[in-house]
Amino acid sequence: MSDHATSPAASSAGTADFRDHLIRYGGDAYPEIVETASGCYVQDASGRRILDFTSGQMCATVGHNHPNIVAAIRKSCDTALHLFSGMIPRSVVELAGALAKILPPPLRKSLFLNTGSESNEAAIKMAKLATGSFEVVGLGGSWHGVTGNAGGASFASDRKGYGPGIPGTFAIPEPNAYRCPIKHCRDTCDRTCMKVGFELYDMQSTGARAAVIAEPVISAGGVIVPPEGYFDALAAEAKKRNMLLIFDEAQTAFGRLGHWFAASYLGVTPDIMTVSKTLGGGIPLAAVITNDEIEAKCHARGFAFYTSHVSDPLPATVGLAVLDTIEREHLLERSREMGGYLAARLEELKSRHEEIGDVRGMGLLRGVELVKDRETREPNHQLGALTTERCLQLGLSMNIRRRPERGSVWRIAPPLTVKREDVDLAMTIFDQALTEMKALLAKRSSSAAAR
Ligand SMILES: Cc1ncc(COP(=O)(O)O)c(C=O)c1O
Repeated sequence: MSDHATSPAASSAGTADFRDHLIRYGGDAYPEIVETASGCYVQDASGRRILDFTSGQMCATVGHNHPNIVAAIRKSCDTALHLFSGMIPRSVVELAGALAKILPPPLRKSLFLNTGSESNEAAIKMAKLATGSFEVVGLGGSWHGVTGNAGGASFASDRKGYGPGIPGTFAIPEPNAYRCPIKHCRDTCDRTCMKVGFELYDMQSTGARAAVIAEPVISAGGVIVPPEGYFDALAAEAKKRNMLLIFDEAQTAFGRLGHWFAASYLGVTPDIMTVSKTLGGGIPLAAVITNDEIEAKCHARGFAFYTSHVSDPLPATVGLAVLDTIEREHLLERSREMGGYLAARLEELKSRHEEIGDVRGMGLLRGVELVKDRETREPNHQLGALTTERCLQLGLSMNIRRRPERGSVWRIAPPLTVKREDVDLAMTIFDQALTEMKALLAKRSSSAAAR
């Protein structure tokens, strides 16, 4: 495909100062102001249309600015946007009821907040209160948010420089079959990582055990899909220690994997579940969800999580529209179907590019890991960075997770409304960018060798 697109760097003239009054907050910054978003595309100030294979920040599963979301926001403008935190709007009652109908029993009680960090903060606090203990075990490579308890149990990145985390937080090695963190398995995971992890935890524990928290697919940590039976075993380890099991379904709930919840297809029901990103479809909405027993225990012990925007009507109205849209547009089925198509296209690229070491994932959450050599699996960070940049120039936004010790993995997650032709266009761009950047690196290394 030819490169009609203007280079983002070149076209930023005139907007070079747009960050002048902004604090930089991490991550790769896009070089242009973005003006609009619609469906699977965003458009920047230069008029470039970019295919969004990150669904915004993994939230826009029903596509950007879906008409049903826009209508729900309009409806809230005619009813209520925000209320005193002790008032319960009708939309909140309806959303809690709608969730209770699709949640795996006995999960049926929700508290509506705004961000994933907040929902995990609340979940961990509830687990501490319900158990009367404080130790929390998380998985290596996990990401649960940026606030105290949530950030304390996140091990993917961004822990450095802020002093001690939350006391009593422990990590066990993640079940990464491609890059086993304890160098025990290769291409399969026999769960020795979990056994070793809990042995080490037990050695360090003060006995005040509260919770085990896990993402059903470890997303920011490299799109790691734990092996079959992993979560049954994790639930059993938690139960053995009287710890509550928390599933963080920020990314996995509401269709990304082709199911309402990962808990449903796994057949493992956690004591507490958190949902966020995908419930609001781009509007800040999150929930912590539990069963009657834990809710009652926490209430009796004085549970308080009284934020300014708890139980707000606007996001709840949007949440109802998101659930309705998933159902009406058969997005669970679409996610499975288009996810299968995307996986097949990625496998085809892998057959032609030796640098693609692994393709993994479920539904419309796919990981592509880059290596220098398929045998040694040495990470190929440079090719990853250059190809991501080139994709963006060509009109495709993809998120690459680069962890020095764990490799470079693209997280590919378009909206569930993605069409076959969008996937085809994305794969054509990806193929071109990878081919060009491989050639560029080969040229650089041969001229270095000639010097
Ligand atoms: C699995 C998971 N949990 C929690 C969070 C935190 O959510 P938020 O950024 O909305 O606070 C994220 C964000 O990336 C996430 O991926």
